Amino acid sequence: ALVAAGLPLHKALAADKIVLGFAQVGAESEWRAANTQSVKDSAKEAGIELKFADAQQKQENQIKAIRAFIAQKVDVIAFSPVVATGFGPVLREAKAAKIPVILSDRSVDEKDDSLWVSFMGSDFTEEGRRAGRWLVEKMKGSKDTVNIVELQGTTGSAPAIERKKGFEEIISADPKFKIIRSQTGDFTRAKGKEVMEAFLKAEGKKINVLYAHNDDMAIGAIQAIEEAGLKPAKDITIISIDGVKGAFEAMMAGKLNVSVECSPLLGPQLMQAVKDLKAGKTIPKRIVTQEGVFPMEVAAKEFPNRKY
Ligand code: AHR
Repeated sequence: ALVAAGLPLHKALAADKIVLGFAQVGAESEWRAANTQSVKDSAKEAGIELKFADAQQKQENQIKAIRAFIAQKVDVIAFSPVVATGFGPVLREAKAAKIPVILSDRSVDEKDDSLWVSFMGSDFTEEGRRAGRWLVEKMKGSKDTVNIVELQGTTGSAPAIERKKGFEEIISADPKFKIIRSQTGDFTRAKGKEVMEAFLKAEGKKINVLYAHNDDMAIGAIQAIEEAGLKPAKDITIISIDGVKGAFEAMMAGKLNVSVECSPLLGPQLMQAVKDLKAGKTIPKRIVTQEGVFPMEVAAKEFPNRKY
């Protein structure tokens, strides 16, 4: 239509180009690296121009990036909120500028849901429940107290809040399960190791189970457990979330008991949503990723099928 309107072809093509501004959390985990790759690859494949900002796990950087996207008048903004609260003002600025916002991977804690057109990603509460159900099943038949230490994700982030909630919802049905320590490891290996060292120092052999909100923290903690002279997955049962390759390797090495899947491969559906929005279509308000649970017994068989 633009060519017909008299614009030279190269200008018409440029005018038709869709520009997506994506404000990423950071590079805190194997999961995040796979998510970034998925977004970049699928933007390229879809012919969408991607403006990518890495917030380095800081909300203020993410807000700055979103403001810059608004000033640049991108077609669509997508982001994965570092934390759940505090995004109201910048979301209202995007709405006032008539730029649709897609929440990718993580949600925000805002009452006015007209501030985003869609939220695509996992059901983190259900992931926490899956982790809890696996533990209840594993410990059934024993009346002994089960002392659990918990490595939480980034404080105030949707996955940390919801994975804690879902897990507690399940284990609270039986008083034998006790969370004796719970602290953030910020979703990183280094912090996971550091905090696990502190847990071991304080509680030692009392610890029966580690529940880590992601694989990276579990992998860091495994190192701490080995350095303390204990056997991961034997002396301490270890449950984590994501299902990244590193977790499968740990399971195949007999050091991690189970990983609850959380898929980072959100790029293709994000690009489809961006295209649909540009074409004036309505997209679903919530798109939930379908995921499974992988105990160590199936790790070797599943490993070749893993894409991240
Ligand atoms: O928001 C998804 C979470 O963020 C992943 O589980 C974790 O690994 C990442 O850093």
